[in-house]
Amino acid sequence: MVSFSALFVSGLMATAALAAPHQAHQHLHAKRASNKKGAAYNQASLVSALTGVSWAYNWNMESDGTLPDSVEYVPMLWGPKMYSGWSDAANSALSSGAKYLMGFNEPDVSSQANLSPSQAASDYKQYMTPYADKATLVSPAVSNSGSSGQGLDWMKSFLSECSDCKVSALAVHWYADASLTDYFKQFVTQAIDLANQNNIPEVWITEFQATGDDASQVQFLGEILPWLDSQQGVGRYSYFMCSDSVLLTAANVLSDIGQAYMSLTS
Ligand code: BGC
Repeated sequence: MVSFSALFVSGLMATAALAAPHQAHQHLHAKRASNKKGAAYNQASLVSALTGVSWAYNWNMESDGTLPDSVEYVPMLWGPKMYSGWSDAANSALSSGAKYLMGFNEPDVSSQANLSPSQAASDYKQYMTPYADKATLVSPAVSNSGSSGQGLDWMKSFLSECSDCKVSALAVHWYADASLTDYFKQFVTQAIDLANQNNIPEVWITEFQATGDDASQVQFLGEILPWLDSQQGVGRYSYFMCSDSVLLTAANVLSDIGQAYMSLTS
């Protein structure tokens, strides 16, 4: 007769034997999927609410506060207004462990960095390319405007004038209605194609947001995040943004959108 405790123990062992590889697999999977996910923030103290993001940026050259230890800070050279402070800030971020440097913010938009492709290429060579042996360099981030001279059209001109700039990641932004998931995928795929044509191994979506009520944004993220995680050409992404009323509530806890952003969806 087999005792109850022997059955219980062997049952436990069988469960453990089954569970262990499964858990290990889940863990690896979760790690890979969440590694791309970042926080776009203005207030460093809010980033800890997005448990599980691996990186963060604030459109600035310094973190403006302390980020959680597990979160890698990525400095950005936003545009001409920051050129004078850049070398000190970049060197200090690199000595604190920064691994990437991001280029200009929406140079294709007049209210943002507002630079022509040729001006941006010349400024990039002056301020960014010298760091290529110390960091991975991210391109300027363009909008998803389809107008000539903006969006990926701007990027194409920039890359043709910046083929010796040592850009290793191509950055884009995307804003549109939450129902337009096909458009999102098409836009990111076009960015990946453009990156490939220029020997740039990855695309970062450093701002994206679906327009619509909370429920439609949640639905958008439910479809888009597994897709982003599955795309080899996508290196990193960050939903706009880590602030109250979007990913957080006024009490600085995850909103419904924030929960959708942080949940493991793939
Ligand atoms: C601006 C940044 C700002 C961010 C969040 C961006 O469009 O360029 O300067 O920090 O929005 O408000």
